[in-house]
Amino acid sequence: MNFLNEKILNYSIEKSTCPGEICNNLEIYTKENHPLHRMICGKLEASLLKFLISLSGAREVLELGTFTGYSALAMAESLPENGRVTTIDKNKKISAISNEFWKQSEHGHKINQMFGDGLSVLETLTTKFDLVFIDADKRNYQAYFDKCLGLLSDNGFIVVDNVLWSGRVVPNFSEDSEEDKSTKYLVEFNDYIESRDDLVKTLLPIRDGIYLIKRI
Ligand SMILES: C[S@@+](CC[C@H](N)C(=O)[O-])C[C@H]1O[C@@H](n2cnc3c(N)ncnc32)[C@H](O)[C@@H]1O
Repeated sequence: MNFLNEKILNYSIEKSTCPGEICNNLEIYTKENHPLHRMICGKLEASLLKFLISLSGAREVLELGTFTGYSALAMAESLPENGRVTTIDKNKKISAISNEFWKQSEHGHKINQMFGDGLSVLETLTTKFDLVFIDADKRNYQAYFDKCLGLLSDNGFIVVDNVLWSGRVVPNFSEDSEEDKSTKYLVEFNDYIESRDDLVKTLLPIRDGIYLIKRI
């Protein structure tokens, strides 16, 4: 869900540094061909990720949840030549789409795709990451977060997507908002982050809610 009025969203997109042409083509292709196309993070969130990479000088980026490769490519565009996005997904089938678009892009070579269950793959990683983008199954958000905190570089930070879950994390947000299991996981996750005094965090009501978190 987008909490922003569509005209405001489009205006904001127009005034922001957004992903390049191949990324746009990938977004259009996903919208036209994949029933779960809403999972793509979209232009404004991609713009924020790109800005954060540029601001922080990040070189090593980790992503949980590749889907058709849109956010991975958007982030790769903002990395220097020696930068790398390591992206993890359990769904190998969908990589036919990401690979097709990544190979068209001059930034595709910066992406390292890993397949498997997110938590199991995380166990194999030893790299220190400057930015981690968590955008996979909500059930494991806290476990991903805890594991990724240990994989951060000194100034590294974590971006967590969908933490407002269409507003359902807020009690009685709307009459027709149904609770589901993910609502419970996200409420628990957000409460957990709130309770941690060793973290500095800000929850942005952009798109479906984006949590920015780092160690103090
Ligand atoms: C919201 S989509 C990612 C969207 C992508 N970051 C983007 O903005 O273009 C979530 C992805 O997480 C993957 N996923 C779900 N559960 C997973 C798990 N346990 N381990 C690894 N990947 C998982 C799904 O296959 C799906 O492709």
